[in-house]
Amino acid sequence: MPASPQISLARTIPPTVDVQVLGLTENNGAPMLVGATDAGYRKKELTELLKILSSVVAKPFQHVAVAIPFLGKRVVVAGLPNSDVTGESVRRAVGRAMHLIRKLPADRPLSIGVSLDLMDASLLKGAVEGALLGAYTFDRRSKQPGRTAIQEITLVTAPRAELKTALSLATITAQAVCTAREWVNMPGNELFPEMFAAAATQLAAGSRIDVEVWDEARLTAEGFGGLVMVGGGSAHPPRLVRYSYAPRGANFHLALVGKGVTFDAGGLDLKSPESMYTMKSDMAGAAAVLSAVKAIADLGLKIRVTAYAAMAENLPSGSAFRPSDILRIYGGTTVENSNTDAEGRLIMADALARASADAPDLIVDIATLTGACITALGRRTAGLMASDDSTADLLLDAAESAGESLWQLPLPEETRQMLDSKVADIRSTGKTRSGGALVAAVFLREFVPEEMPWAHLDIAGPAFNADEAYDYVPSGGTGFGVRTLIALARSLQG
Ligand code: BES
Ligand code: ZN
Ligand code: ZN
Repeated sequence: MPASPQISLARTIPPTVDVQVLGLTENNGAPMLVGATDAGYRKKELTELLKILSSVVAKPFQHVAVAIPFLGKRVVVAGLPNSDVTGESVRRAVGRAMHLIRKLPADRPLSIGVSLDLMDASLLKGAVEGALLGAYTFDRRSKQPGRTAIQEITLVTAPRAELKTALSLATITAQAVCTAREWVNMPGNELFPEMFAAAATQLAAGSRIDVEVWDEARLTAEGFGGLVMVGGGSAHPPRLVRYSYAPRGANFHLALVGKGVTFDAGGLDLKSPESMYTMKSDMAGAAAVLSAVKAIADLGLKIRVTAYAAMAENLPSGSAFRPSDILRIYGGTTVENSNTDAEGRLIMADALARASADAPDLIVDIATLTGACITALGRRTAGLMASDDSTADLLLDAAESAGESLWQLPLPEETRQMLDSKVADIRSTGKTRSGGALVAAVFLREFVPEEMPWAHLDIAGPAFNADEAYDYVPSGGTGFGVRTLIALARSLQG
């Protein structure tokens, strides 16, 4: 992973910085700077800067990020909303500024000062996350010069204890998001199940997480029919990885389950070239649960967390599973496989059944599960389906505090009939495409005990940004879900 910038807090912007980041908002229709006094500007200089700004920025300022040469430095202004500035609006503004700075020509790594009136912990957390997330890119070009590196970032704020705590929370959170992004960005030839399991083992080394890896022999012996069958078409065999974090004194046990299809070609029900191209991202759920637990352990949260990452590669071949094959999921439920491209729910079923056997207090699963969820909610919002509304609210609150977008979808009772099979306990898909995200969730629900609180996040849309970068979201892997899972663990710890 690219080295992430050093972040520190200071009362003013040090004179040695290469770039100063200031906020921009509106005052009676005219541009107004935020944080400029703390940055050490005098009134006359401010008037001059505003004059230049008026000629280069257009309203609304909220989405603006511009770089202006001023007094021998570069000043980057990032737009903020006129009212109700939240952690998320600061995260977006700083992310946009960092992205712009990385495109500026420079002959060396840059030092950045950020002054934005960061007076409370949630604004500071937004700024730190925006800075670290906005500075991330995935770039394997060996010939062309890469982007300008950002070496250090100084944020102007009062060095109060609660702000230092927010700095460390935000740094650990952003690092976890970048770990997930990096895994998602790694192509299928670099990150296949054995490699992914090895990387997960390495991530946990030296932390308070115990790692257990099931290889294909053990998966077969213990009856993980979903993983074994889905992974059977690839020369790279499947893996199941468990992270256990069990700090002393924890009184809540959270289970996380993530989909880790390292490449989804669709299997014998092969995808089209257009829909296959981004399928290296089909392990984003597994990446999210593993990196979130790493952050939870690094933060020392007082909550027990057990995460399962189900890893397989879905390819067509002479050893691939077939449409109409009958699989036996962990625990014995039989499934008639109706479409080999609906592989995610089969490996998730194994992992959910295994996670349930640990008898946790809550199971949250996260998966790039259905194209139907993208049709329903677009590419920036994940679908949330839950056993009950109070469980859904836990997730909605966590996502809101983390600045991620979730929308609850229903699990209508009649949906289960769409999965009735004549030859097995359940079919893997419905016979039509209608309500595909809900049908997939109803299938997953079958593998969680009825009385157990459970939430399912379908991140098929937001896990991967196939377009240009925006705000603090780069193109490629986004690390979606990591922040919500960390916020959830924080809200449940005791
Ligand atoms: N990995 C895909 C879902 C997906 C699609 C994720 C687009 C991200 C972007 C999943 O395995 C899949 O192919 N689902 C099928 C299910 C169908 C066969 C019932 C789908 O959504 O078309
Ligand atoms: Zn698929
Ligand atoms: Zn898939």
